[in-house]
Amino acid sequence: MNEIKIFSPATVANVACGFDILGFCLDSVGDHMVIRKTDTKGIHITKIEGFDLPYEPELNVAGVSALEMYATLDVDFGFEIEIYKKIKPGSGIGSSAASAVGSVFGMNALLGNPFSKTQLTEFAIKGEALASKCEHADNLAPALFGGFTLVKSVSPLQILEIPSPKKLYATIVHPQIEIKTSESRAILPKQVALSDAVKQSANLGSLVHALHTNDYDLIKNSLNDVIVEQHRSKLIPEFNKVKQAILNAGALGAGISGSGPSIFSLSEGLETANNVKDAIIKIYSNTGIEFDIHISKINSEGVKVL
Ligand code: HSE
Repeated sequence: MNEIKIFSPATVANVACGFDILGFCLDSVGDHMVIRKTDTKGIHITKIEGFDLPYEPELNVAGVSALEMYATLDVDFGFEIEIYKKIKPGSGIGSSAASAVGSVFGMNALLGNPFSKTQLTEFAIKGEALASKCEHADNLAPALFGGFTLVKSVSPLQILEIPSPKKLYATIVHPQIEIKTSESRAILPKQVALSDAVKQSANLGSLVHALHTNDYDLIKNSLNDVIVEQHRSKLIPEFNKVKQAILNAGALGAGISGSGPSIFSLSEGLETANNVKDAIIKIYSNTGIEFDIHISKINSEGVKVL
C-alpha cells in the first residue's frame, strides 16, 4: 500500500473540570488527509484545501509531527501529505490536534503500524505545541484513541481510556470568531486558590467515576469548572446566556470547548441534545453573531482509514 486516505476527528478538550487532562472525540466533524509514500526522501505537503495554512512542513502542525516521526525512521523513501481541512483553526474543537494526529496516523499505517497510539501521541504533541506554544495532549489523545481519554502525565506520556455512556450526545456551537490557543492560555492565572483546586479535583474525580458507572446524574453534578471558565468566558460572545439556555433545555452540563470559542454541552439522549441545539440557535439568532452548530455522538473509534 502506497497511499492512504484518513478521517481525523474534531475533539473537545478540558470538558469543564479536566483542564489539559480530559477530552472526548466527536464523530460529525473532522479533516480528511491523504498520505502517500514517495521516492523523494523527507516530508512534503503537496496540497492544502479549506484554509490558508503553510506548506513548509516545519511551519505546519501536520508537518511538524510528521517530521518528528520521520526522524526516527531509517527509510529510503519519503511521504507526501494532502490536507483537506474541515475544522476551522482557532475554533476550539481540536483543529491543530486533528492535523497533528492525521499525518502520523497515516504514515504509521503505510509503514505497517510499527508505533503504538501512545507513541503516535508523542510525535503529534510536537505539532500541537507549534500551535499552542505548549505541549498538551488532551485533544490529541481522544483523536487517536477515540472516546473519552485522560492524560495522566505528559512526561512520560501516560493516557487512560475512559468508557463513554451510550446515551451521551454532545451539542457544539461555534460562534464565528477565532481564538488562538496560545492567547487563550496567556490570560489564565499562574496560581489558583487551594479551595478551587480541591473543588476542581473533586469534580474531575467524580466525572471520571460517573463515566465508568453510567451515572448521568453524577455527570451533571460534576461538569463544573471553577478555575478556567471565569477567565476565558469573557472572550466568548453571550457565553453566560448561552450556557444558561443550554442548562434550561435539560443538558447535563456545558462549558468552553478547549480554549474556545466553541461551547460544548453534554446531554442524555438525542432528543435533549436537539432541544439544546434549538435553545442555542434562539440566543445566537437574536444577536447577529454567525455560528455553526452540530450534534455528535461520542466517537469511540477516533482517527480512521477511509
Ligand atoms: N487544554 C487546552 C487549553 C486545549 O485549554 O488550552 C486547547 O487546545
